[in-house]
Amino acid sequence: MKIGIDKIGFFTSDLYVDMRELAQQRQEDPAKYLIGIGQKKMAVIRPTQDVVTLAANAVDQILSEADRQKLGLVIFGTESGVDNSKSTAAYLAGLLKLPEKLQVVEVKQACYGATAGLDFAQGYLCLHPEKKVLVIGADIARYGLRTPGEPTQGGGAVAMLVTTNPRIIAFEPNSAVAMRDANDFWRPLGESEARVAGKFSNNLYLDLLQEVWQEYQKTAGLQLIDFTAFIFHLPYTKLGLKGLRSLTSGNDLAINSQLFKQFEAARSYNSQVGNLYTGSLYLSFLSLLQNSPKLQAGQRIGFYSYGSGAQAEFFSGLLQPKFKEQIAQNDFKQILTGRRKISVADYESLYQQQVIQTTEHKLRTTEDLAKYVFAGTHESQRTYEIH
Ligand code: CAA
Repeated sequence: MKIGIDKIGFFTSDLYVDMRELAQQRQEDPAKYLIGIGQKKMAVIRPTQDVVTLAANAVDQILSEADRQKLGLVIFGTESGVDNSKSTAAYLAGLLKLPEKLQVVEVKQACYGATAGLDFAQGYLCLHPEKKVLVIGADIARYGLRTPGEPTQGGGAVAMLVTTNPRIIAFEPNSAVAMRDANDFWRPLGESEARVAGKFSNNLYLDLLQEVWQEYQKTAGLQLIDFTAFIFHLPYTKLGLKGLRSLTSGNDLAINSQLFKQFEAARSYNSQVGNLYTGSLYLSFLSLLQNSPKLQAGQRIGFYSYGSGAQAEFFSGLLQPKFKEQIAQNDFKQILTGRRKISVADYESLYQQQVIQTTEHKLRTTEDLAKYVFAGTHESQRTYEIH
């Protein structure tokens, strides 16, 4: 039985800051951000958006009435949740008015959450092949103004409908995993900004990539030549480039050249949005599908998922015959080109407002043109509006 992704939706803010301008304000050489880090633009999330509304706006693009009727499970991968107890999946189901004969759950393991969701969805669909599962990766990446992590912020949501007989990609049975109890990146309870040991996190990402790739090759009996493209969790796009360099080191130059071309297609959207934490790997997949001219059905894509703390997984999938039609249904290039550039001063002001507030407050939602918006807190409960 084939199981995989049947539809993908993506949503991010309508505002961004230009990395060249941010570098100038921070007295850095713009080439450091553009080339050294590999980021061109960074999404700035409005205070009227949280992970629930980002997800709702992404799901809204893909879920038909027929999908709703067959939905059995919603798995929400996030590390920027809005409640210590109630899951973001429950908030989402309410906001989208999903049928209530449903299981809803939030999954957390840093940027790995959505990948865990895809794994769990495959198990569920083996037992309930007639059902559909919604897997979401949504986050707002925050490190703090004027910190080394600042140019690697961003935010947004990717929503994936996982089904049997999928039309975009069918996952293959072999995968390789590795974990470490490591403090490379974490966010203490009650804090809005992540703490990070930057260089250590980069090294662990690359070490675990090698570990799971070696293991995957042994268990799957496949090697580099069997892959058309590799995609990576992209906290910033230069790290994925380093990952691809480590996989291809000492390999045939002609094969490597094709893989690096595919990587450029796969990092295009991420370089314009920034880090989505859980959604980043899947935004890169979307970017590959919409920007690579050469992909064909039947080709194999390798996925490297990494979540600090740390969990790594390498897995693969085969593109399905209808993937081009499925992916052409939403024009994500237009979503990105239609955004508005704001000044660094305006980004800093919005950044200060984008904190979890549990006290009574009402936000002005008229400036946010998204369909689903966060409206503030009333009697310690979060309130949402549909425009
Ligand atoms: N022109 C071109 N390149 C330049 C340059 C210039 N003028 N100046 C510097 N560079 C290059 C540097 O050589 C370096 O490249 P290499 O890594 O290839 O050596 C790159 O730009 C970055 O420079 P620095 O290392 O000096 O940058 P930094 O110390 O200010 O911080 C960082 C970089 C550690 C990635 C920091 O942004 C950070 O902490 N980010 C958050 C943590 C992170 O994303 N970790 C990734 C793994 S963890 C994970 O994946 C989970 C997750 O999503 C967070």
